[in-house]
Amino acid sequence: MADPKPTLKPAEMPMWMKVVVFYGRFAPSFTALGYVARGLPLRPLNASFKGQTWLVTGATGGIGRGIALGAARRGATVLSVGRNETALKSLAQEGGAGIVPMQFDLELVAANLALADEVMRRGSKLDVLVNNIGKLDHVHRLTPEGFEGTYALNLLGHFALTEKLVDAGALDDGVVVNMASGGLYNTALSLRRLEQKPERYSGVMAYAAHKRAQLALADRWTQPERRLVSYTMHPGWVATQGVSTALPDLERHLGRVLRTPAQGGDTALWLAAKRPSPVPGALWFDRAPRAAHAYAFSRKPEVEPEAIYAKLIADVARARSASA
Ligand SMILES: NC(=O)c1ccc[n+]([C@@H]2O[C@H](COP(=O)([O-])OP(=O)(O)OC[C@H]3O[C@@H](n4cnc5c(N)ncnc54)[C@H](OP(=O)(O)O)[C@@H]3O)[C@@H](O)[C@H]2O)c1
Repeated sequence: MADPKPTLKPAEMPMWMKVVVFYGRFAPSFTALGYVARGLPLRPLNASFKGQTWLVTGATGGIGRGIALGAARRGATVLSVGRNETALKSLAQEGGAGIVPMQFDLELVAANLALADEVMRRGSKLDVLVNNIGKLDHVHRLTPEGFEGTYALNLLGHFALTEKLVDAGALDDGVVVNMASGGLYNTALSLRRLEQKPERYSGVMAYAAHKRAQLALADRWTQPERRLVSYTMHPGWVATQGVSTALPDLERHLGRVLRTPAQGGDTALWLAAKRPSPVPGALWFDRAPRAAHAYAFSRKPEVEPEAIYAKLIADVARARSASA
């Protein structure tokens, strides 16, 4: 019998083949085609969030805007966070009285802590927190607080904001939704990749590490004694400014079948409405818990989640003492 045909490993493939394999594997599920194939357009979410208060970060554009409008349309009061005054005004105009604009630049830890203070000052008890803000940046940049910019926006800020709200009891009985990405398939849980040196910086790997770490945070914030549940989700591939800027090739190849922001945010609204039992380590996508690994190499964590928490706690403390 003839030897079986040797198969190429990804590292040995020419670029065109890698591109075909990548899109062939993920596009049928992550684009609007997957949303339709799973029958979601035929299952509109009949939920009322009347009387609820939500906090949505990155609410002025893309998926965050879709979530804020979807929650407000269903009766929630949505504390909607953005940094751009004009974009906040336009959101409030479209979403009506349910949208409460809050202007904060969440790149700074100090701003995330100030936002938590402001939520509590208003006496707001939150039913839902959506940690949506996130960015893939191909250029290394430090924030004024000295942290790598995407680490600060994608992970450290979420941590500072959520821990403060959880510790104060502002999220008791509530739901936390962390907006991750299929980009986390690119790495195992990793400490070294959270903040990379400028000379070794890869925006794609930094983003992957931040998104992978968000999964670990979901487990930390699922606290039965507080009746608090936390989920980490993937929105699919969505037509947003973030994609246009960071992944122009994705937009060029798949622009016509990318999801709408409402479709990308659908699972966040569904999770808040249904509050399904948390599944440790699951990545929620299209209203179901899915595997958080597409490749064998990511299954073996480089560190335990405690090492990630320890860095986050130390970095928040560093930012606090610098601003004291
Ligand atoms: N789009 C996708 O296909 C996709 C796929 C997987 C995961 N995700 C995740 O989904 C989330 C949202 O992505 P997106 O594509 O909707 O992003 P986006 O189009 O870039 O929108 C992000 C929003 O956050 C705001 N923002 C950015 N930096 C800010 C800051 N420092 N302070 C306050 N607000 C700030 C932006 O406002 P400005 O206009 O002021 O910048 C904008 O309103 C991210 O976590 C992303 O990683 C997206």
